[in-house]
Amino acid sequence: MAATEGFRLAAIPGDGIGCEVVPAALEVLEEIGKRLTVRFQFLTYDWGSDFYFKHGRMMPPDALDQLRGSDAILLGAIGHPEIQDHITLNGLLLPIRRAFDQYVNVRPAILYPGVSSPLAGASPGEVDLVVVRENTEGEYAQAGGFVHHGNPGEVAVQVSVFTRQGVERVIRYAFELAVRRNGKRRVTSITKSNAQGYGMVLWDRVFDELKSDYPQVETESLLVDAATVHLVRRPHSFDVVVASNLFGDILSDLSAALTGSIGLAPSANLDPLRRFPSMFEPVHGSAPDIAGKGVANPLATFFSAAMMLDHLGLPQGSALLDAAIRSVLREGRVRTPDLGGHSTCREVTEEVIRTMGFLGNDWGAQLRQEET
Ligand code: NAD
Ligand code: IPM
Ligand code: MN
Repeated sequence: MAATEGFRLAAIPGDGIGCEVVPAALEVLEEIGKRLTVRFQFLTYDWGSDFYFKHGRMMPPDALDQLRGSDAILLGAIGHPEIQDHITLNGLLLPIRRAFDQYVNVRPAILYPGVSSPLAGASPGEVDLVVVRENTEGEYAQAGGFVHHGNPGEVAVQVSVFTRQGVERVIRYAFELAVRRNGKRRVTSITKSNAQGYGMVLWDRVFDELKSDYPQVETESLLVDAATVHLVRRPHSFDVVVASNLFGDILSDLSAALTGSIGLAPSANLDPLRRFPSMFEPVHGSAPDIAGKGVANPLATFFSAAMMLDHLGLPQGSALLDAAIRSVLREGRVRTPDLGGHSTCREVTEEVIRTMGFLGNDWGAQLRQEET
């Protein structure tokens, strides 16, 4: 949709702290809309576990059609302690990723000034990597079933599905990101082909084939067990990490922890071909242990919103939000308990909005000075 007509943004807060961090992000986006004189039309959907308790399903039957016309989707988290996770997640989040062919899940992990890493002596910049996770197949293909369900002789079959097309498109995205990102120009492919002798062997082969198309990019292939060691011992050597659906999921919680808190880790579920809306969400879940206490860190969702603004072609809005979050982290006065502070989600939200005010005015002044 053209910027003059505004942007249609679907918001799905979901469950637990999703219902705290998404409304906070909408406030921040509202403020950015005013500053950029861009109209955001938010459509908030009450889908999730409460919807399930009322209707016996996580979202209505025509949910995907309702979302289809959006320019982007902002999601909080899904998961409720009283409903099995495979029901909630297969009823909402995973079908959206698959139906809209959001085949890349981009998960940056940056150690920011003002934040301490659990790694002794790690200084800002030591962790600056992006996990590119395959997002529609692999171990998440949901192929399989139960035989003799509930009986002593029960059998469960869970099949991983790796297609050449699926593997190639995500690895290609990783290479292109390494070129575009202009960092260390390094792609690390992470598999477990010593034990998973088909799907992951195909993955390794495709990775080897594609290398020659990107001679300017340095490459490395690691087994996932060793990769967890290297990520902890030499995080500075990673730039773009490409991995299967399950490995990308696990590795992005690890990379998030290295940057100080999972409360800072954003993600973008992208359809790079832009046939469908892409979806932006924090890496973390619904955090039932802190839900309702008002202390959830909203910054992962704000960083996700910044990624969404970039995707929508609003780089100034994205840069302003990114700069404001970084400034709040650097100052360190207002931070939630996961980062060692005592502030609430609300206080952090207000501080980010206030900081955008300062920075926005500064940038305005700078621009006026450059003009004169
Ligand atoms: P989680 O990410 O919800 O929580 C892990 C730990 O990190 C908890 O101690 C939590 O308090 C803390 N944490 C997470 N986000 C935080 C934030 N923004 N600020 C401060 N602390 C934060 O993982 P979990 O406990 O394994 O999962 C809880 C539920 O969420 C499960 O039902 C799970 O399936 C679901 N889940 C959903 C998503 C998603 O919707 N994308 C992602 C992960 C987990
Ligand atoms: C994530 C989550 C989901 C995933 C779960 C909740 C299905 O952990 O987005 O990282 O594994 O993709
Ligand atoms: Mn996860």
